[in-house]
Amino acid sequence: MQNQNAKEAAEFLKKLKILPEIFFVLGSGIDISPLVDDMSDAVEISTVEIRGFPPPTVAGHRGRLVFGKYGALKTAVAILFGRKHIYEGDFSAPMFISEMFTHLGAKIGIFTSAVGGIDKSLRPGDIVLLSDILNFQGKYSLYYRHSSIRHKLYKPFHDKLSDAILNSALKSNIYIFTNGTYAAVTGPGYETPAEVEMLRRIGATVVGMSTAPEVYAANRNGIKCAGLSIVTNRAGTSSNHSEVLTAAERASNNLLKIIETFLKNFDCKSLY
Ligand code: HPA
Repeated sequence: MQNQNAKEAAEFLKKLKILPEIFFVLGSGIDISPLVDDMSDAVEISTVEIRGFPPPTVAGHRGRLVFGKYGALKTAVAILFGRKHIYEGDFSAPMFISEMFTHLGAKIGIFTSAVGGIDKSLRPGDIVLLSDILNFQGKYSLYYRHSSIRHKLYKPFHDKLSDAILNSALKSNIYIFTNGTYAAVTGPGYETPAEVEMLRRIGATVVGMSTAPEVYAANRNGIKCAGLSIVTNRAGTSSNHSEVLTAAERASNNLLKIIETFLKNFDCKSLY
């Protein structure tokens, strides 16, 4: 772990006494607030109050962090509403999240994202469980230039954790797509039709501007990760940020049900 700010932020948060076992990062417009109402001992903090926390600058990214205990298992959960993207200028900001949660002792990270659908069968509002990443953000690897593990290969998403999420979706009667490959691009503009065609041909299922750096940093710190993407538009067709937010909000309800079922049934400790 290299980010001193992330350590300071974690020290500050430890004073709130809740140390999350599992954290959720919510992408653009994705909202699972009703989960918070069912938490016990919930504590909410605006990320601007956390020293060193990179402030989000995009509409729909609210910079809210909630801690609490959930379900009969009293799982200690953190939910981060909103994240910062590399196109906002601070390259280390997405990794900050994973590093901060690592310092807080979290073991599992669920990364959600708003994405464009590359696979032709995807429609706005569909949910895709990720199994891999195609990274076109380039620079992230420089961040680890001096790391001894820079050539280490790994799978970004944890099979057992992903299976548990899939089972939770089945139990909730919500159809989700599986085996998604997330093409991570820098944005902030959306892709041209030719770029979409290229991404399709090389095996991408969805495309988005987040997920890669934070998942890489989380894995590096031993956190077990799963990725869930909400399709907000078909990539390469005209869309704007407010359409993206509307579709993400609609699909959030299904995501909420999946996460509730997951947290009620899954014992995080079974993974470590
Ligand atoms: N492309 C990249 N990122 C996105 C898209 C898209 O079409 N939709 C939501 N995030």
